[in-house]
Amino acid sequence: MPTISIIAAVADNLAIGYKKQIPWYLPADLKHFKEITTGHTLIMGKRTFESLPNGPLPNRKNIVLTSMLTEGVVEGYFEADSTEDALELSSNAEKVFIIGGSAIYKQFMEHAETMYITWVHGEFVADTFFPDIDFSLWNEVSREEHQPDEKNPHSYAFVVYERKK
Ligand SMILES: NC(=O)c1ccc[n+]([C@@H]2O[C@H](COP(=O)([O-])OP(=O)(O)OC[C@H]3O[C@@H](n4cnc5c(N)ncnc54)[C@H](OP(=O)(O)O)[C@@H]3O)[C@@H](O)[C@H]2O)c1
Repeated sequence: MPTISIIAAVADNLAIGYKKQIPWYLPADLKHFKEITTGHTLIMGKRTFESLPNGPLPNRKNIVLTSMLTEGVVEGYFEADSTEDALELSSNAEKVFIIGGSAIYKQFMEHAETMYITWVHGEFVADTFFPDIDFSLWNEVSREEHQPDEKNPHSYAFVVYERKK
């Protein structure tokens, strides 16, 4: 069985998306996301998939949840029409990352053992939010705080949580 992790960049007000995009530009987080997920399997919602500027994320198995399966063959990614179907498609993987958006995080939260959260410090206007986290269920196992720099205009923290046994 694969290990299932959630990975998200979340503002202090739980914002994750606005007008089909991420509400901030933080290249350090994009690099972090790439380092953690490369070589592994990703599960995402259709709208998150449509927001990717260059289609499926390379060097990763992309599984896209949608209730409207494409007729015929899709190239470079896989489609699933239920959480069970997405988990079945990832059953041979070593590591599976749940990469959003909102409802996808919510649906897979109970399956995840680890959460990689980039806390983006600040409150952002948003139309998409991370679900409330019940911190009584999670141990914070690492935290790396970063100050803004010339490329990254916001302070942020890379935090890892593991589900309490
Ligand atoms: N900050 C971050 O880390 C982060 C990460 C990811 C996304 N985002 C942002 O979040 C926004 C997109 O997220 P979103 O919440 O609007 O949408 P989403 O979760 O990416 O996609 C929602 C769609 O997924 C499909 N879906 C969801 N659950 C399903 C199920 N159980 N079975 C079958 N299909 C299912 C449906 O597609 P159909 O309508 O085709 O049925 C649904 O309309 C964007 O702004 C994006 O930039 C931010």
